[in-house]
Amino acid sequence: MTDKKTNPDRIRKVTQSVMDLPTLPTVVAKMLQMIDNQRTSADTLARLISTDQALTAKLLKLANSAYYGFSREISTVNMAIVVLGFNTVKNMGLYLSVFDVFKNSSSASGFDAVKFWEHSAACGVAARMLSKSSGSRYSGEAFVAGLLHDMGKMILSQYFENELVEVINTTREGDGDLDKAEMEVLGVSHGRVGAWLAEKWNLPAIISDTVMHHHEPWNAKTDPSFVALITVADILCHLTQIGSSGRNGCPKYDERLWHIFDGASIPLDETDLERLQMEFLAEYGKSEAYTSVVREDDAEWID
Ligand SMILES: [Fe+2]
Ligand SMILES: [Fe+2]
Repeated sequence: MTDKKTNPDRIRKVTQSVMDLPTLPTVVAKMLQMIDNQRTSADTLARLISTDQALTAKLLKLANSAYYGFSREISTVNMAIVVLGFNTVKNMGLYLSVFDVFKNSSSASGFDAVKFWEHSAACGVAARMLSKSSGSRYSGEAFVAGLLHDMGKMILSQYFENELVEVINTTREGDGDLDKAEMEVLGVSHGRVGAWLAEKWNLPAIISDTVMHHHEPWNAKTDPSFVALITVADILCHLTQIGSSGRNGCPKYDERLWHIFDGASIPLDETDLERLQMEFLAEYGKSEAYTSVVREDDAEWID
């Protein structure tokens, strides 16, 4: 996206500040390296996770939550991997750790960090639902991509609080176009900022591409149909008003979004949105236990 008002100095300033961002915890960094290695065993993953007590405790809590509804107690990481699967455990680890990195972020006026996490978690749930119903094998990745799609806003709220407040105020007073306000105030989109962090953390290309292009999936480089699913998930979260992304109303999208699904095994278009909202609300209700795990554990940072 280009904008005449883009200020290169501003972009540079943001870029340089992003260089000082928090690093991903070592355990998760190692976990991400293991993703690409086909020979990594469930045992190796279990041993790695077990070195981090806090992560282990949260993971077991999640595995034992009502969302999964297992009749037996899951008491070890190994057992969690057996019943939930390698990818689910890996994605949970990523989810919990990313939340840890950002939990100290302030609630800039007009930006509610708690509601923002609700938006992120809801988008993860919606993305996983859409991915599963499209028959994709990548519903775990879709969950993480949905969860992280707006991570740029987390950075802005932590490092550019004043500018973020200005963006939000400009949006409220103007025509409500957050993306335009970002370009005016920051000279850069939250997608771009989030992608800088995703790249720094060596997140899989499909995740950083989603973070970067979730408001314009037709420009995605790796897999536009994957990114477009996250775009639809984000739209569903806005339409159902679960959580808050800091934006008034639904993000803008146009025909190019639906064209991405032309020829897909289960094509999607605008007329599906009403049905999908109902399905999503049912799915989100079931996953409430899941999304509340981080909220409970980190309740101390919520005022
Ligand atoms: Fe966004
Ligand atoms: Fe969003």
